[in-house]
Amino acid sequence: MSAVAVVGTGYVGLTTAVCLAELGHRVTGVDIDKAKMARLRSGEPTIYEPGLDELMAKALERGRLAFTSDYGEAIPEADFVFIAVGTPRGRRGEADTVFVKQAAKSIAGAMKKTMTIVNKSTVPIGTGNIVARIVGENLRDEIPFYVVSNPEFLREGSAIYDFMHPDRLVFGSHDEPAARAVAGLYSKLDTKILITDLHTAEMIKYASNAFLATRISFINEMARICERVDADVKVVSEGMGMDRRIGPLFLDAGIGYGGSCFPKDVKALARMAETMGYHPELLDAVMEINLDQRTLVVEKLREVLGGLRDQVVGVLGLAYKPNTDDIREAPAIDVIENLLQKGADVRAYDPKAMPLLKARMNTIRYCDDPYGVATGADALLIITEWDEFRQLDLDRLKSLMRRPVIVDGRNIFDPKTMRDRGFVYRGVGRS
Ligand code: UDX
Repeated sequence: MSAVAVVGTGYVGLTTAVCLAELGHRVTGVDIDKAKMARLRSGEPTIYEPGLDELMAKALERGRLAFTSDYGEAIPEADFVFIAVGTPRGRRGEADTVFVKQAAKSIAGAMKKTMTIVNKSTVPIGTGNIVARIVGENLRDEIPFYVVSNPEFLREGSAIYDFMHPDRLVFGSHDEPAARAVAGLYSKLDTKILITDLHTAEMIKYASNAFLATRISFINEMARICERVDADVKVVSEGMGMDRRIGPLFLDAGIGYGGSCFPKDVKALARMAETMGYHPELLDAVMEINLDQRTLVVEKLREVLGGLRDQVVGVLGLAYKPNTDDIREAPAIDVIENLLQKGADVRAYDPKAMPLLKARMNTIRYCDDPYGVATGADALLIITEWDEFRQLDLDRLKSLMRRPVIVDGRNIFDPKTMRDRGFVYRGVGRS
């Protein structure tokens, strides 16, 4: 059992803190937000993630988990401190490391004994060295310390599961024993371990996200070609995925990727490359294709309806993916803005994300369910593949609509079935 501090109790930090406690460590979460610390101390999770509340309650009860705003309380005791603060997108698309630097400074100020500083936040390559420099400059005494990069690969909605069942764990450091010591924290997990240097570990995170984003833009480009040659991209994906070298995941064509990671990380990697004098042609194309997918569905709708002015368009799904209320970089936002600009009358429904979008966009009408959205609509546009939408009563839906038009941005329905049911149906990349 080790004493661990986790600085930053957002999405990644809280998941990491709770899961490390579950693995048997004594963990203290540190965050400058005092109100948040009070809520967490009382056992109230500040994010929604399946399984988090139970694990958090268990760890608090066993006395393995604590929360504080005081670095002086958490750091002196710790053998390891994880930095899991946010790295928002800077003005030019670069990752902003201001919070990482602040955390490094505060950690140094509170350090009393040898410690290993572990970076979990997604940071530009070289940030580990900057952290080491800042800590070195701000230490009160000559205390030896190590810096290790241990990137996270957690998906929203399955973060706890992903933490407990990783495909691999990556540790990078100038000091191999330090990297191995951090790997030891996870020794209860049965998984592959990769030990490497700091820069390489930091790069693995970006390269992984950029590759997954590339797969999505790739299949979306195939979808565009499929539409022109009369082929079905869903079956193309299936056929490709049967090849072991390709694999079936991340080959769903649709409205493109969103969320707090892919858009930010691909952009940050591209800007980083440019700063180093390299023009990342492929990454630029990945981003361009992704954004164009959002325009293409609106174009499809315009074509079917013969114009969008004064047309009533119902949007189904606002979150960037199902099972979350997250609307960060959600395709729905661009799509709705585009529809409004073209004069459409927009109404929308999402099982979870409406409160967040309402706070940001009050020019559209929000409905209580998909049938409310369909009532009097000239078309429905599916943006998020919630299970609820797959189970809709299609006859009822059709009877409520003014025109039975559906543009399915996530290919959740079968084109032939929809046409047989009397809909004018358009998917993405389907003949
Ligand atoms: C992602 C990475 O998976 C994770 O490893 C990293 O740490 C953070 O970013 P997340 O943003 O939670 O996780 O979502 P994910 O489930 O990976 O989906 C990302 C986006 O890609 C979603 O908008 C989703 O709709 C889209 N997507 C995914 C596709 O359009 N097609 C696919 O085939 C797969």
